[in-house]
Amino acid sequence: MNAADIFAPALRLLPAEAAHTLTIAGLKFGIGLPKIDASQWETATRLPKSGLVLPNAIGLAAGFDKNAEVCHAMSQFGFGFLECGTVTPCPQPGNAKPRLFRAKKQRAIINRLGFNNKGSEVALCNLARQKAELNCPVGINIGANKTSPDFISDYEHGLAAAAGLADYITINVSSPNTPGLRDLQYQGALTELLNRCETAWRKILSPPPVFLKLSPDLRQEDIDLLVNVLKTQGQWLCGLIVSNTSIARPDYLPAKLRAESGGLSGPPILASSTILLRTLRTALGEQFDLIGCGGVASGADAYAKIKAGAHAVQLYTALAYQGPGAIDAINRQLRDCLDADGYKTVSEAVAADI
Ligand SMILES: Cc1cc2nc3c(=O)[nH]c(=O)nc-3n(C[C@H](O)[C@H](O)[C@H](O)COP(=O)(O)O)c2cc1C
Repeated sequence: MNAADIFAPALRLLPAEAAHTLTIAGLKFGIGLPKIDASQWETATRLPKSGLVLPNAIGLAAGFDKNAEVCHAMSQFGFGFLECGTVTPCPQPGNAKPRLFRAKKQRAIINRLGFNNKGSEVALCNLARQKAELNCPVGINIGANKTSPDFISDYEHGLAAAAGLADYITINVSSPNTPGLRDLQYQGALTELLNRCETAWRKILSPPPVFLKLSPDLRQEDIDLLVNVLKTQGQWLCGLIVSNTSIARPDYLPAKLRAESGGLSGPPILASSTILLRTLRTALGEQFDLIGCGGVASGADAYAKIKAGAHAVQLYTALAYQGPGAIDAINRQLRDCLDADGYKTVSEAVAADI
């Protein structure tokens, strides 16, 4: 157990956002930093379309390190890859507080932060300072400013800005906390988004792989239309991240929390996000690299996503509840799951359930 794991229970006594702010501050000063070999668990994986090579299959999901302030610390904890952001072209404060809530019993979170961030320029400077010391790939997740008159131009800007530094870029059109943003997942708007982003991407000298991050709340008819649009995309779009948070409110959450607006994360969205992942893998075959995200709290959860088609997995909420020890535990358990089924590598198990 390292110092960060020891502090974790005390942090959980604080209001959720205060605990997060304190955690970022502590990590910036290097408090409790171990130096973990990210390849020790033998869960390395390669994403075939993007060419990303990960020392292990467990990555940090977007939203934890919005301004790329603690990439170095998070790579020291042993993550196989990191995703910074969401960053928007201009800084913005996000929604009014309180905007982050814990459902402790369910080990879940509801957030309506609303892309609070210091703007892409600050995040990119922060990342540039740390990049040489990172021992895993790092992606930058891009979004749109709440008051932007043209959301798509913010993504064009984000692609151009992040291209020189990011190992991959994620186009995030699935946050429920920016009004209108999720509409970009639907047919006409999605086509325009992808066409304009592809044009921006083609202007970049050596463009990084691009992923699209989706919502777990898509209905079957939306998925069918989405799949049709995705099938027309060429090589430029390498992968999908499935998924973001959900606006669903299962009955078993406390009534007071169910009434809070925002995105639900953690175990309550494990099933829906894994089902969407499987649906997309079934419909799209091997056209895209898939990253599974949503409710992963154990190696078995990660393994279920891999067998449903994911090449790698991301998590956020489990880190908030379990502390950084989760990275070791989940990787170990994942290795055990692979061994039990006779798989030598993660890649061998990808889509095994399909
Ligand atoms: C507090 C919080 C903030 C988040 N912020 C972002 C964000 O800025 N951009 C994004 O793409 N996803 C964001 N997410 C969603 C996560 O990246 C992830 O998709 C989701 O939480 C599901 O994974 P989990 O169940 O492991 O947390 C956020 C999640 C949480 C809990």
